Amino acid sequence: MNQTNASSDYIPHSRPTLGQEEIDPVAGVIASSQIAQGRVVHEFERTFAQKMNAKYAVSTNSGTAALHLVLLAMGIGEQDEVIIPSYVCTALLNAVKYVGATPVLAEIDPENYNLDPDDVKRQLTKRTKAVIVPHLFGLAAEMEGLLALNVPIIEDCAQAIGSTYRQKCVGTFGEAAIFSFYATKVMTTGEGGMVVSDSKDLMDRVRDLREYDNKDKYKIRYNYKTTDICAAIGLVQLSRIEKFIRRRRAIARSYDQAFESLDLQLPAREQGHIYFRYVLGLGTDSSSWIRKLKAEGIECARPVYRPLHQYLGLKGFGRTEKAWKESLSIPIYPSLTEENVERVIKGLINTYKEEISERHI
Ligand SMILES: Cc1ncc(COP(=O)(O)O)c(C=O)c1O
Repeated sequence: MNQTNASSDYIPHSRPTLGQEEIDPVAGVIASSQIAQGRVVHEFERTFAQKMNAKYAVSTNSGTAALHLVLLAMGIGEQDEVIIPSYVCTALLNAVKYVGATPVLAEIDPENYNLDPDDVKRQLTKRTKAVIVPHLFGLAAEMEGLLALNVPIIEDCAQAIGSTYRQKCVGTFGEAAIFSFYATKVMTTGEGGMVVSDSKDLMDRVRDLREYDNKDKYKIRYNYKTTDICAAIGLVQLSRIEKFIRRRRAIARSYDQAFESLDLQLPAREQGHIYFRYVLGLGTDSSSWIRKLKAEGIECARPVYRPLHQYLGLKGFGRTEKAWKESLSIPIYPSLTEENVERVIKGLINTYKEEISERHI
């Protein structure tokens, strides 16, 4: 998120949508003096579970903490392997390593940037205990192919709150799912996360591991609790989620129309897509595009900072490598005005023309 460029005509890559609606209940929580985990957190969990069609929801102070707790609650540890995509942020790699398991990387489908079920199948061994399946950029992964592998699935819905796969909410397909409420996400509490699942046993373990106080027997537990202040923001954000998604989809339609005739890969047009990110496949390195758009006051980014195989010094992963180099994520969030959208479109088309003419020199 842009924190240095405060100029009013600068369009940051991400921006949370917050206002008086969030300020009022937060002020109420502060005035009540019950600011840590309490009644509001429990209400947030109940409401979230209902909205996501899950039986249980347990909140945490980040999406990473949520992932860590699920892996622990599933009993995943040192002898085990967990399959994750290479094309994702390091939160997944960290969570797998926190529990001492071995991360095994898989390739993506270049059409939708999500895990390729065929490559996941190739990575399966006797030690595979789970696959973490992100629904990247707001688009559901190919769940049918992944579920057919008969390996426990943890859905990572950090970027996909409200997204659906064949009309069913993401987060309802695996053993458990996690969400993130970081400031750039579809809805935010500043920092925060949630685990959802229909398994009471699993969720009892998640709840137990989340906090350490007032326990009869000792074992290593964590302090991954969120606060009533965050939950108060979360409840309001959750009530606005349909509106947020409608606006994201409307912006995506404007972008689709404007870029249709350009030689670029547009995001897959799936019904359940919520466009957490609007990602263009450029067919060429995105670095110079990012520079040029920044010069016009439009902050764009590579949607994944660096793929995991690069951090781990692994070779191969040609599809991930290409997606990483050639993808451009442009601003898309509910508080973008129509004027902002027009500027992004103009800026992108100008950059496209410049890039084409430079290639032909
Ligand atoms: C796909 C994915 N999973 C997990 C996370 C981790 O969430 P958090 O930043 O709340 O720990 C993120 C956050 O950026 C993410 O994009």
